[in-house]
Amino acid sequence: MDLDSYIRALPKAELHLHIEGSLEPEMMFALAQRNGVTLPWDSIEATRAAYDFSDLQSFLDLYYAGAAALIHEQDFHDLAMAYFTRAHADGVVHAELFFDPQTHTERGVAFETVLDGLERACNTAQLRFGISSRLIMCFLRHLSEDAGFDTLEQAQPYLGRIHGVGLDSSEKGHPPSKFMRLFARCRELGLHVVAHAGEEGPPAYIVEALDLLKVERIDHGVRAAEDPALVERLARERIALTVCPLSNVKLCVFDRLQDHNLKQLLDAGIKVTINSDDPAYFGGYIGQNYVETAAALQLSRAELKRIARNSLEASFVSDAERAPWLMRLDTMADD
Ligand code: ADE
Ligand code: ZN
Repeated sequence: MDLDSYIRALPKAELHLHIEGSLEPEMMFALAQRNGVTLPWDSIEATRAAYDFSDLQSFLDLYYAGAAALIHEQDFHDLAMAYFTRAHADGVVHAELFFDPQTHTERGVAFETVLDGLERACNTAQLRFGISSRLIMCFLRHLSEDAGFDTLEQAQPYLGRIHGVGLDSSEKGHPPSKFMRLFARCRELGLHVVAHAGEEGPPAYIVEALDLLKVERIDHGVRAAEDPALVERLARERIALTVCPLSNVKLCVFDRLQDHNLKQLLDAGIKVTINSDDPAYFGGYIGQNYVETAAALQLSRAELKRIARNSLEASFVSDAERAPWLMRLDTMADD
């Protein structure tokens, strides 16, 4: 089996995927037309050409502009179905989808509209592809903690349909400590908790996310490598990092994929996973992230299998749900 086929055959979980970041320009334009929304670009080609980012903020400005095309329940459904179709082709057996309610409710789209559309797609993906999924609601960290509490209140009637919360958007200047009370409340409500940390922000933000927000996984976390004691801690406490290699290169966290520290973190014993973040903006879905990272860092099949195993182990499913995927993974050769 060639490496490409091997990677796609690995049963894997995607744990870091912003559903709004899977909005391809073709769908963005079709939805904008259907909904009478004016986009800041003239054409699909001009949109793609604008995807030349210098840092996280330069991406977020475009990402929020593109999300304005999403209005109706059907739009959120179609968006998520397109993602699941791609994920299935890449061997994803389980996906934990981030969504940003504030990006939509601030534009007058009801919380329920977003949730209904995404959930309907999750149900269809289970039936059509056998992909299981969970929804993780992210708070935008450039907004206030009070705005986060308002969002949690809007989510209250639907918490049985939301598995966890996350923290995303502009990292620098918005440390995890800003959201300590909000995350404590979410934990009290029985929600799983994760946070973006150490993407652009310093290793101290990862420490804060662990100590103050008590997160179960760190999204990105690549800047942990600057703090040897933290690397040792992440390995010892088996904290998974949801690393997104193509995203990191597109947002200039690393100059080239060959410079990425994923293998260094893996070698240090950290539970590293590979994910796509915002695949429509960063040039590849999860399979492409595995393939290009394997080539750039010369990852062996055993290492790729380890990374897929990490993703299944770090997912928020029960052991009973996980067991058949691990059994399937174990049948795959790694030499
Ligand atoms: N929202 C969508 N993608 C993001 C990323 N990579 N970092 C922070 N917030 C995001
Ligand atoms: Zn992200």
